[in-house]
Amino acid sequence: MKIIEIEGAKELTGTIRVSGAKNATVALIPAAILTDEEATICNVPEITDTEALCDILRLLNVNVNRSTESVVINPTDMVNTEITEPYSKKLRASYYFMGALLGKYKKAVMYFPGGCSIGARPIDLHLKGFEALGAKVTSDKNKYIVEAEELKGANIYLDIASVGATINIMLAAVKAKGTTVIDNAAKEPEIVNVATFLNNMGAKITGAGTSTIKIQGVEHLHKCFHEVIPDRIEAGTYVIIGALCGKNLRVDNMIPEHLDSLISKLEEIGVKLEVGADYVEVLEHERNYKTTNIKTAVYPGFPTDLQQPFTVLLTQCNGKSKVTETIWENRFMHIPYLKDLGADIEVKNQTATVLGPTELKGCQVVATDLRAGAAMVAAGLLASGTTTITNVEHILRGYEDIIEKLSDVGAKITLKEI
Ligand code: UD1
Repeated sequence: MKIIEIEGAKELTGTIRVSGAKNATVALIPAAILTDEEATICNVPEITDTEALCDILRLLNVNVNRSTESVVINPTDMVNTEITEPYSKKLRASYYFMGALLGKYKKAVMYFPGGCSIGARPIDLHLKGFEALGAKVTSDKNKYIVEAEELKGANIYLDIASVGATINIMLAAVKAKGTTVIDNAAKEPEIVNVATFLNNMGAKITGAGTSTIKIQGVEHLHKCFHEVIPDRIEAGTYVIIGALCGKNLRVDNMIPEHLDSLISKLEEIGVKLEVGADYVEVLEHERNYKTTNIKTAVYPGFPTDLQQPFTVLLTQCNGKSKVTETIWENRFMHIPYLKDLGADIEVKNQTATVLGPTELKGCQVVATDLRAGAAMVAAGLLASGTTTITNVEHILRGYEDIIEKLSDVGAKITLKEI
């Protein structure tokens, strides 16, 4: 079993370089099978989710060549076989193979995806989108068969602006006959990154990043070279850690505009920041923070994926703050562990009320999901004494070189096998 051990209360100084975005990478890798030639993706983070997707590619007899920071994917000899349950369940994003295989072969056979237990996480909007394009969906327990004689462009309205459904429908529609319009599409930067990738291959997608995306079907997709955007959630996590225990801590190689909502909340509570073209630096300042309330929302609102680390920061604000989670039903699993560390937090329905400031003292905690794990790391870095985190596989799924990056700026953090 792997654990992370942190000797907390150390001041962090220096520069942390942000990796490629996990949530873009996990869509780009399945999307790459749509090319008729070869796709090169660079700035690919080395995280376990990336490896799990490359394993699925290999299962499908796709040639995958992984080198430092890049992956070359050649689907010329690909075989469209069933993606068995262990492969499908390894991560959430395996479901992008549904859209990509349907788009390429008009047939996909796979199982319900895995991922963090942060809510029920249905895929009904993905399936409705595929059906609108002309596919027939049959399911038996966890197994899904999605197939079509022909895929035809359609007008699709998403009841919820779902990131996964928007991307999956784009993947299925890119080679469909005619034009598909996705209304109430999600607007996250990762969607723009995937649309740009497909357009680099010859797709005709407009409107990505707005709530109406238009996809004009094409017959062939060619060779392309593409770069993953910086991970805004990783960047945001480190900026929050900077606000907790940084002194001139710079988070580099990021796109600050992608984190406008976080930056304005940090400035509101009194965190002194320097925002550059591709970095955010938490400057040296007195930590005397005001309270605030946050409510998670689809992009460009406050990201649900930063809600858990931000809650740690609220334990250091002077008074009562509130966190309202609107995207996932089960995203307060980190709260009992923050309370074990000394935080004063009450959860009622979908709102957590945090009373600060409270001193945090190290103890044993659990990373219940990926971003809860990030919250535990942030809390452990602030707390006095030793914090031991178990279930760290969740953290390693999403944060490249987290131990090295934090050690390099002065943290006492180690990954141990026990
Ligand atoms: C993606 C991100 C995740 C982030 C989330 C919201 C990836 C790999 N993961 O997840 O980190 O927390 O966006 O920003 O990119 N829903 C349905 N039916 C569906 C699909 C979604 O009801 O068919 C609901 C979900 O239960 C949830 C909401 O829509 O309440 C948003 O989900 P969605 O945007 O699809 O999240 P993911 O793409 O799974």
